[in-house]
Amino acid sequence: IKWHSLTPADLHNLSAQLIETEVDTHFRSYLINISWSLSMDASIKELTATKICVMSIGTREHFECIRCNYTEKFQSQTMFGNRRWQFHYIGFPVEPEMFYSISAYNLPPANIYEDSPSKSIMLTSPGCFEKLGINKNKCIFMFKQTA
Ligand SMILES: *[C@@H]1O[C@H](CO)[C@@H](O)[C@H](O)[C@H]1NC(C)=O
Ligand SMILES: *[C@@H]1O[C@H](CO)[C@@H](O)[C@H](O)[C@H]1NC(C)=O
Repeated sequence: IKWHSLTPADLHNLSAQLIETEVDTHFRSYLINISWSLSMDASIKELTATKICVMSIGTREHFECIRCNYTEKFQSQTMFGNRRWQFHYIGFPVEPEMFYSISAYNLPPANIYEDSPSKSIMLTSPGCFEKLGINKNKCIFMFKQTA
């Protein structure tokens, strides 16, 4: 527990999509591609890392977080061409028919009793990972994402 006089603003945007990985002849496998962009705010100079947590809800409940450290201090609120700083992380293997609650916040975190900004989104995995043509009737491929 450490007090910080200045803490970074919330992420500007958080989004996620499933991406197909290893090519197997019968089954698909997916990882989550989580992307985020930073607020154009002077507090970016305080930003050291972004913490991302994924909670799976369904037949197998699981909670896992990763911490992405920024290797250098941000000198400017934007990157080349005045664009927002954008990052993505590919990881967190996905299982069929689950809900994933993905949340992210910047570090250092807000102090105790202060608002702790974070963003979260939901992602739903497909009902079946068998490739089409093998067992079509059982496989419903549905991707849904809500903000
Ligand atoms: C992951 O998402 C980022 C940002 O949207 C995108 O640039 C990148 O190409 C994606 N990676 C894959 C493997 O789809
Ligand atoms: C990120 O930074 C923290 C604090 O400095 C450190 O404990 C952690 O090991 C770092 N993680 C990586 C992956 O470098």
